[in-house]
Amino acid sequence: MNKNFVGIILAAGEGTRMKSAIPKVLHPLCARPMLAYVLDLAKKLKLSKTLVVVGNKKELLKGLLDEYQAKAVYQAERLGTADALKRAQGALRGSSGNILVLYGDQPLLQAKTLKELMQKHLASCASATILTVSMEDPLGYGRIVRDNYARVTAIIEDKDATNEQKNIKEVNTGIICFKKNDLFKAIAKIRPDNAKREYYLTDAIKIMAEGGLRIESLSIVGDMEQAQGINSRQDLAQAQKIMRLRILDNLMASGVSIIDPQSTHIDYDCKIGQDSIIYPFTVIEKDVIIGKFCRIGPFCHLRPGTRIEDRAIIGNFTEVVRSRIGKETLMKHFSYMGDAAVGRNVNIGCGVVTANFDGKNKLKTVINDSAFIGADTILRAPVKIGRKAVTGAGSVITREVKAGEVVAGVPARPLNKFAQ
Ligand code: UD1
Ligand code: CA
Repeated sequence: MNKNFVGIILAAGEGTRMKSAIPKVLHPLCARPMLAYVLDLAKKLKLSKTLVVVGNKKELLKGLLDEYQAKAVYQAERLGTADALKRAQGALRGSSGNILVLYGDQPLLQAKTLKELMQKHLASCASATILTVSMEDPLGYGRIVRDNYARVTAIIEDKDATNEQKNIKEVNTGIICFKKNDLFKAIAKIRPDNAKREYYLTDAIKIMAEGGLRIESLSIVGDMEQAQGINSRQDLAQAQKIMRLRILDNLMASGVSIIDPQSTHIDYDCKIGQDSIIYPFTVIEKDVIIGKFCRIGPFCHLRPGTRIEDRAIIGNFTEVVRSRIGKETLMKHFSYMGDAAVGRNVNIGCGVVTANFDGKNKLKTVINDSAFIGADTILRAPVKIGRKAVTGAGSVITREVKAGEVVAGVPARPLNKFAQ
């Protein structure tokens, strides 16, 4: 069914209310640009093609669009949503008969809602099928106007609505399926004679209804927040909260324990194995993989490139970045591992720190299996610790420690040498 649709994602708006130098749709939710979530939806729905209408600063979007093989269509001037679709018309020759309009600033939409909408659109043979939602406070949204038979006759934008129309609680989410040919015929008739002097896509509905074409709608019930558009940093924070809870829910459903979802932040696409436990006040950034039966936190910060293997314990006030921590290794308190490869069954004592940056380069630390790193050891990278080696409390390691060797001091030396 989905091959009957081309997805058009509108993303040319300037996002003025974000007060930002970067395009609104690149602002991240849980470390993923909001537009990427919308592109994910289009991909999940297996649409025949996805076009993205972009505006100024389009070069900043290029990387992301290439990643998804989505075609960019340029809208030089922001003349309104109908004009944005008109820009895409040329790229639609010979493509599927229906269009699904999506917005780049609605990352919370769920694929199942869109599937239902597309199904209804095809089954009813409507010229347009609108996704609507009822809101207690519909301020700012286009209102759905219906006749006595409950048929949709128009969408009236907030700024153009009469007081009576302003009382309508059912609004346009912005997501609409169209029959391509009917849409472009209607768009040709749209004029910018409204409060914003813009070409409103929503005027296509009135034009179609007046022409006797069939308009259908589907109302979101339940998960209403999915239609939320992001216009300001406040909206962004709200949406981020929802996305964060969705990520945590998915992890819990897959067998990860999260003791306190309210104080836990996990970015998009982190992998955590079954029966691992995440304690409160933990921040896990993108590109982190954690094995099974691990214990993480409280107060732990795992940054990109972290790999934690099964049954490892990363305790309180710890930070790990670009490092691998082997199976059953313990790093229970006040430690920092940066650019480190740590083997299995290693004990990293309280307060151990890798000094991995020399002011210019990030340097590697290797700690082999079953080593014992004493409390407060500083590992000045690049440095290697051999299997079963031991460093004394407070040592500063500046050169390789061989397997089985015991070193201590500043700089650390083999203990038997002290004896001499
Ligand atoms: C739009 C709808 C409104 C609906 C609301 C839902 C219109 C006229 N109104 O209003 O009925 O209730 O969304 O959130 O469509 N864009 C472009 N080029 C343009 C103008 C806009 O690409 O020239 C993009 C924006 O980046 C944005 C989307 O289209 O992603 C919607 O535009 P916006 O101006 O935010 O429309 P609203 O006033 O919110
Ligand atoms: Ca909007």
